[in-house]
Amino acid sequence: MDYINTIATKNAPIHNAIQIIKQLPITEKLIHMYKRSSKNELLFIGTATFITLYNLSAYLKVKRQKLNSPPTVPYSLPLFGHNLYMMFMPSKFLDWCNERYGEIYNLNLQGKTMTITNGKLGEEAMKANAEDLSLDHGIVRDVLHLDYVFDETILDIGMTVNPAVARMALPNSKMPMYVAGIQSGLENACRALLNEKTTAVQNPSPFFQNFVAYMSVPGLIGDEFALNIEVIESFASFTGDVIKNVPLFMAVPTFLHKYILPFVQSAKKHESVMLKHVAPVVIERREKMRLAEEAGKEHGLVENFLQGLVEFEQTDENGVRTHCSAEQLSRAVLLVAFASVHTTSMNLSFSIYWLLARPDLMERLVEEIERILPGDTPVSATALAEMKFLNNFTREVLRQGGDSIANGKKAMRDFTFSNGYQVPQGRIVASSVRQMNFGDNSIRNSVEEMNPDMSLNKTSTTPARDFVSFGAGKHLCPGRFFAVQEIQMTLVYLIKNYDIKTVSGKRPQPICHIAGYMVINSEEPLVFTRKH
Ligand code: HEM
Ligand SMILES: *[C@@H]1O[C@H](CO)[C@@H](O)[C@H](O)[C@H]1NC(C)=O
Ligand SMILES: *[C@@H]1O[C@H](CO)[C@@H](O)[C@H](O)[C@H]1NC(C)=O
Ligand SMILES: *[C@@H]1O[C@H](CO)[C@@H](O)[C@H](O)[C@H]1NC(C)=O
Repeated sequence: MDYINTIATKNAPIHNAIQIIKQLPITEKLIHMYKRSSKNELLFIGTATFITLYNLSAYLKVKRQKLNSPPTVPYSLPLFGHNLYMMFMPSKFLDWCNERYGEIYNLNLQGKTMTITNGKLGEEAMKANAEDLSLDHGIVRDVLHLDYVFDETILDIGMTVNPAVARMALPNSKMPMYVAGIQSGLENACRALLNEKTTAVQNPSPFFQNFVAYMSVPGLIGDEFALNIEVIESFASFTGDVIKNVPLFMAVPTFLHKYILPFVQSAKKHESVMLKHVAPVVIERREKMRLAEEAGKEHGLVENFLQGLVEFEQTDENGVRTHCSAEQLSRAVLLVAFASVHTTSMNLSFSIYWLLARPDLMERLVEEIERILPGDTPVSATALAEMKFLNNFTREVLRQGGDSIANGKKAMRDFTFSNGYQVPQGRIVASSVRQMNFGDNSIRNSVEEMNPDMSLNKTSTTPARDFVSFGAGKHLCPGRFFAVQEIQMTLVYLIKNYDIKTVSGKRPQPICHIAGYMVINSEEPLVFTRKH
């Protein structure tokens, strides 16, 4: 802090910034943060500050470009940029920026200039073509470095074939077909993870990831994998293994990455698992399809995401129909695990913690379950559709689960927004998801204010101006029907069969944050007691 004071006295805007920071109960917050921070989070925050050092020179020699740039929010601190405001007063700070600068402005975050959009321009950023603003380049490569795990062909399949197949295999109209697979998957999950009369779950994140992996595997890739522990384990932990390396990749300059790669290849082992188990099944299914075609019969294979990949054909420049090899498809399956398991498990976890934090909501849900699915009545897509409270609740959970700043996309060329503002090639353009969902970052920000009735009966899979959690436009998440069905079926099953409490007996904080603007789930240990 001494260091900051020294610069502050010499520089008026920075002086103002320090005044703001001084008004924050910062010491208290730092201690609180330190106490509850995971090693990863501290590493992340340290890193965000640290990489700023590398980029300092970039600040000093900002290139004069003839672009009509959005305003840069003042009070950016040397080294810290706007990170401190985001860490300690994210909602207030963002609301202040939004009020003052409207739908587009620049912040210095994580050591670089980022353009933040909301409102109509936020939608434009979400809906932009990948040739203009690319999530693939903004996050998949530059942050997650999936390009170190997969070669270009696989990433390309992940970005083009996977979404197309997901749209064909997982539309709303086919959801009734997936009920049985999800149900048997979630029962397997309970048998594997909650088999005792009482199970204490000390580490909720891996628990929910495993749970969702058990539940997703039969529906997404087929019943033959329903109890394949290696495949389930890879589905569950692939994303985490990739994310784990992010702070390291951020801290180390890109040109040195090749030297650390040999030490951080835990994500690679999941590739071998898929090659070992999924590839032979693809070959087997193709053989069955060939024989059936020769015999002029239906192949009778169950439709699911993997089957969609198996059947997917592309026509190349010469009009020849080609399909991806079994090895390529096995790797592509991992990319779907990547897109689906973490997102679903985190939001499932939010749902459970919201219900524990708000007994009034739990009571309303229990009442609805007992009314619509009494006793042993099997769950069905029709029953789920009748559960209006569950729908109101899911939509509000998903809205609440949006990051304040998310969907960082990289400008692949200079990009002009409809209001004339321009961003240079290479710039990361992010959307203020929470602000778009609620109109303001401070609205319904406390546990008491979470309010399912604000969903106004709108379905939790239908995007809207005020519901951009699944994205918008042509990149809208194609897995949303499947994800919502999984979350809802899990809530129904768990509430019917288990008593769930926090181990501490305390009311949990359902949503926690990393670096102030990224949501993560609570790590409060849970105890599940079987009812019968
Ligand atoms: C609660 C769970 C989920 C959330 C919150 C979520 C969120 C999102 C978001 C925000 C995007 C848009 C990214 C962009 O703007 O480019 C997206 C895309 C995608 N999601 Fe999901 N997702 C979830 C579950 C799933 C599941 C279960 C699957 C597959 C089975 C899936 C597959 C995909 C794919 C393939 C894309 C790329 C779409 C494209 O580029 O056209 N997601 N998801
Ligand atoms: C939870 O869902 C919301 C909305 O659907 C999404 O924006 C968010 O990224 C998800 N959270 C996580 C941590 O995946
Ligand atoms: C869902 O929310 C709407 C208001 O948004 C309310 O009228 C309706 O009663 C709610 N449904 C249930 C079952 O709570
Ligand atoms: C939502 O639906 C319920 C009936 O299911 C109805 O009583 C209520 O008025 C509706 N609320 C809104 C805001 O549309």
